[in-house]
Amino acid sequence: MKDNLKMLVIGDIHYSAAEEAAASAPGRHAKYGLELLTRALRRFAGEEKPDVLVILGDVTDSGGRQEANDAMIAVEKSGIPAVIIPGNHDAPGGRPKPLPIKNFLLYPFVDSYQEDDKCTRREEDIEKFRLAVKNNPGKKIIALQHNPVYPMIEDDYPYNLRNAYSVHRAYAENNVILSLSGHYHPGKNLTYKSGESKTLTLKAFQGRVQGKNGVGYFTVPALCESPFRYAVIEVRGDKISADEYALRNPVPLCDNHCHTQFAYCAEDVTVEKVLERASLLGMDYVCFTEHADQLYLTREEYSRMKYLQDAGILISARKNGTDRVKAFREAVKQSGSAMAKAGLEVCPDASGGITLLPEDREGLDMVIGAIHFLPGDFSHADEKEVQRGFMQAFETLVNNDIDVLAHPFRLFSRSGLKPPRDLFRPVAGMLKNFGVAAELNFHTNKPSPEFFEICLREGIKISLGTDTHNLLQAGEFCKHLEFLKMLGISTEQIGKILYLLS
Ligand SMILES: [Fe+2]
Ligand SMILES: [Fe+2]
Repeated sequence: MKDNLKMLVIGDIHYSAAEEAAASAPGRHAKYGLELLTRALRRFAGEEKPDVLVILGDVTDSGGRQEANDAMIAVEKSGIPAVIIPGNHDAPGGRPKPLPIKNFLLYPFVDSYQEDDKCTRREEDIEKFRLAVKNNPGKKIIALQHNPVYPMIEDDYPYNLRNAYSVHRAYAENNVILSLSGHYHPGKNLTYKSGESKTLTLKAFQGRVQGKNGVGYFTVPALCESPFRYAVIEVRGDKISADEYALRNPVPLCDNHCHTQFAYCAEDVTVEKVLERASLLGMDYVCFTEHADQLYLTREEYSRMKYLQDAGILISARKNGTDRVKAFREAVKQSGSAMAKAGLEVCPDASGGITLLPEDREGLDMVIGAIHFLPGDFSHADEKEVQRGFMQAFETLVNNDIDVLAHPFRLFSRSGLKPPRDLFRPVAGMLKNFGVAAELNFHTNKPSPEFFEICLREGIKISLGTDTHNLLQAGEFCKHLEFLKMLGISTEQIGKILYLLS
């Protein structure tokens, strides 16, 4: 629909790349700016991409060219068309061009700052704007600027444009349905101001496409300040909705599946860096559940996967002193954080055991069982044989006292097979009997709502896992919460159904 538009709106990132960046004001998480932006964009990496991304200024905290460039690269990677306008913290530079999209024209303003951060819209810019509107008859105009126009913000600091009233009048007379700003970090909800036009006859005014409520004004809260908010604004015909989201979790959550620098498949994670994100994003704890097989074996031994057939290889590694289980547990302990818990992710082997030496179980907060590969040769197996192999591996796990079944049916999608619906009930039944939780995990995985519905009905605890290999995944539970909401579990009720360490 040409009259519908979905916009992702972000403001005040205040990014500074210096590791110990002293932000321009307390509460601004300047050094995480690029990461916060990337995290917000990643939430739209799937199917429902917005039509356009709007960034409303103060991309950088102190005008760094490198930082501005890094932000641009992140935006380009997202593949979403974007309009980025500079704020008073950014280096003066180019002027973004108006962007026609569907039946809309996104019109960016770059206003001028005087002493004491006072900001004014130039008369010639208002004239140019009028001309652009005239040249785009019938388009609904969305005006973009850093400083808010309306409502007036009572503060010693001059947040609003100095000539806000004449700007509003220009908007009311020129088809502006919506005006978006940043700069005022707490943000302001969508509010309307009527035309108050003295220069147009009623007839002429009615002929225009402006919303019947007048001009909508919205100020997006700063991304750099906790809880790290952004907005999704949708225009549908005459209706405008503005929904705010936060990168920080709405309630403290627990991650029962997270990797570390000890994983061969780790990207940039370390215990320390994950914990930093955990406090930033509002978490109770992170249980580091490193791949046990990778800890026992060298990279080369692990890649040969012999351990799935011959458990003796783990014992030899321990005897030779080449395993890293102790080092991993030390690293978690050394973090000194009450938020850090230690667990292991184990796999079933061909002889009915798991990749965990009995002496290593003591003191672990959690053992999660995962089927990454089936022990045995399934290269020529048909779907039914794979299913039988899966059930056997699953039984091995539950018989070996695991707490959580990691990414329940991921093996199938990774092998290009459909999730085996026939197995949902038997698996849920065994989880219930053995008191094992089912993990909700979106790492290269698409959990089946049907399976989790059965689990919830059976009272099986749900374990939230990010399966973090990359720092951008740490503390990110947006999909988990959405999924549970879809199954009728609100964020407030979530504590009742989760598997949590006490
Ligand atoms: Fe700002
Ligand atoms: Fe600003």
